[in-house]
Amino acid sequence: MPAISCSAPGKVILCGEHAVVYQKPAIAVPVFEGSTKCSIVAKPNSPHDETIIIAPNIALKCFLSCLVEKHPIRVAINLVLEKINLDHLPVCEIRINSSLPTAAGLGSSASTSVAIIRALSTLLGYSFSDDEVNQLAFEIEKIHHGTPSGIDNTVITYAKTLFFNKGQPFEFIVPGKPLTLVIADTGIKSSTSKAVAEVRQGYLADQSKYITLFNQIGDLVLSAKESFIKGDFQLLGKTLTENHLLLREIGVSCDILDSLVDSALSHGALGAKLSGGGQGGNMIALVDSDRAESIASALISSGALKTLITHVPAKGI
Ligand code: MEV
Repeated sequence: MPAISCSAPGKVILCGEHAVVYQKPAIAVPVFEGSTKCSIVAKPNSPHDETIIIAPNIALKCFLSCLVEKHPIRVAINLVLEKINLDHLPVCEIRINSSLPTAAGLGSSASTSVAIIRALSTLLGYSFSDDEVNQLAFEIEKIHHGTPSGIDNTVITYAKTLFFNKGQPFEFIVPGKPLTLVIADTGIKSSTSKAVAEVRQGYLADQSKYITLFNQIGDLVLSAKESFIKGDFQLLGKTLTENHLLLREIGVSCDILDSLVDSALSHGALGAKLSGGGQGGNMIALVDSDRAESIASALISSGALKTLITHVPAKGI
């Protein structure tokens, strides 16, 4: 059996996070500047007679059988085997390398799942459709995040910007002109499942407040979709910043996220907001491409651990 490698990108939520869990729309963008690669080599002559998993980013090196049953990597492998009716895996070495930070809102868990599912199914001679990969990756997201909307696995599987509404067909969207985002890492690890669970508690304690906030976010996302498609980035930027203020009211921002948003805006970003689960992780700033570098430097001076600049190409580019 040959060696197989498959990669999957990361993602940012352009707008609509959290409200998307409550059936409101959201927009997500794949990020190719960070990715996860899964390489699998069959080792039929291994003296150990056991598949080994090596994932340096999460300091993991062990036999597959040593992972707890609900470990997302083990579940990913089992889901692939189940789907193709194989009851055991040939002895392999599975290496997972990611340049995406974990617990940072950039989709590292979904990226890892998609890379493993694609590499393993390909190694075993099956080429799963994107829909099949996405369905399996969603099952693994539930282990990571409890009650996810499914937006992360979907944008990462299809690797295209999408307008997403839980339980409905999603739509690929393309900006009216090339779009540039600066992504800045607060350096604070944050758990999406914890943030989602805390929002749920807030919602259960005061449903009318949270329903109003989710509806307001939903309306912003509809407006953002229109300005994204038209290429009206002045308006899109304002909408993103308003989205940040609503996320703050929901309780998922924090001091460093707020100060990075302020810093981006005061250095000329068109709009800025936290992205993903919040409570740390990453923020994004919508910028004119010629200001991207200077805004990225300003964000580092304002306390960001690191920055990435990503571009979304327009139609035909
Ligand atoms: C995480 O990228 C986005 C959240 O809305 C959770 C989800 O949609 O599953 C916070």
